[in-house]
Amino acid sequence: MDPIALLKKDHREVEGLFKEYEDAGDNAFARKQGLFEQIRSALQVHMDLEETIFYPAVKKIRDAEIKDEVREADEEHHLVKLILGELSKMKPQDEQFDAKMTVLQENIEHHVEEEEDELLPDAKKSLSSERLEELGNKMEQRKASLEVGKN
Ligand SMILES: [Fe+2]
Ligand SMILES: [Fe+2]
Repeated sequence: MDPIALLKKDHREVEGLFKEYEDAGDNAFARKQGLFEQIRSALQVHMDLEETIFYPAVKKIRDAEIKDEVREADEEHHLVKLILGELSKMKPQDEQFDAKMTVLQENIEHHVEEEEDELLPDAKKSLSSERLEELGNKMEQRKASLEVGKN
């Protein structure tokens, strides 16, 4: 399994969910709550895979710039988790809910762009194809078990 393809597929899925959120009517509160929960769940699984499997492997690459990219990615995940935590305590009816969803979306877009333009290509060129395959398989397995746990 190609770990980069797996991560990019997740990115596209979350982008699609944000687009659905944007297109939901202002007063479609139940739909917005449902979409928020889907986004949160997808992001939690995705960040878990990166933090437990992918980032640690990339951090082992002996390259100062790559290590800095992973450190920045960790901080961006931290921010995303803070915003998700705040949204979890709110309702779509709250005046600030849409604005906070927009800020979450912008943060994710920025983070995904950096991963896809820098971190993922750097990982691909620095890790052997066997190592990449191994990471991808681990991520695929962990993803399946986390998704079972959520249902
Ligand atoms: Fe990612
Ligand atoms: Fe990430």
